[in-house]
Amino acid sequence: MIGIFDSGLGGLTVVKEILNKLPQYKIIYFGDTARTPYGTKSAETVTRYAIENTKFLLEKGAKIIVVACHSVSSTAIPVLKELFSDIPFFEVVTPSMKKALKLTKNKKIGVIGTRTTIESKIYDRLFASVDPKIKLYSQPAPLLVPLIEEGWLKKPETRRIVKKYLIPLKMRGIDTLILGCTHYPLIKKIIQEKAGKRIKLVDPSEEIALEIKNFIEINPELAKDLVPDGEPEIFVSDITPNFEKIAQLFLGRKITLKKINLE
Ligand code: DGL
Repeated sequence: MIGIFDSGLGGLTVVKEILNKLPQYKIIYFGDTARTPYGTKSAETVTRYAIENTKFLLEKGAKIIVVACHSVSSTAIPVLKELFSDIPFFEVVTPSMKKALKLTKNKKIGVIGTRTTIESKIYDRLFASVDPKIKLYSQPAPLLVPLIEEGWLKKPETRRIVKKYLIPLKMRGIDTLILGCTHYPLIKKIIQEKAGKRIKLVDPSEEIALEIKNFIEINPELAKDLVPDGEPEIFVSDITPNFEKIAQLFLGRKITLKKINLE
């Protein structure tokens, strides 16, 4: 059973790819809608939430944890791996970095993300360690998560804000842009339009799904709870007005939300 969590809707962009590539594995998703957004909170708070979310998914029977959130992936992974040392964790930052490295030609890479992710400087450290010639330009985009959770996926206001966030990165001549928040693929079209055709977008969902597939192939004992219909079980910490509607639209299937209280 694969346990996946995020602060809200964002992690569903990873769920969708896992459903595509591994439809027979049971997925249990937790969206922490009562405490979203994570990306404006301190690393300490985000780490505390991540520990609680992991415990919840493990209690529900998860054998693998997918941290489908850059804000958690950039701050809490060392603590999670230490506390739950026998659990395999998959995060979203390293696969994004690897994919960007493959795509860039001029070595100028942009990243947009929450304040927590950008301020963690995780991408700066990772790129510096693998290729010091990479020039990384970071831009916090704090307004995007609330707009997406609010369902403003196509509004002109959202387009204008995306445009404003991308101007400084475009001025630097980037050829690759990391979507450093799992919410952003939900407005990928707008981001691509405002970035322009020459900038390639990095969404690591597909790579993560493939990594998990390979991992299960070499650890077949993890794949005992197969489900023929691949119906994911989706938990949230609060029933928010748009979650169900956007989740159904995005995943292209009917879902039933279950509300839980972690505190
Ligand atoms: N989707 C998450 C991320 O990738 C969380 C965004 C938030 O809650 O601020 O960072």
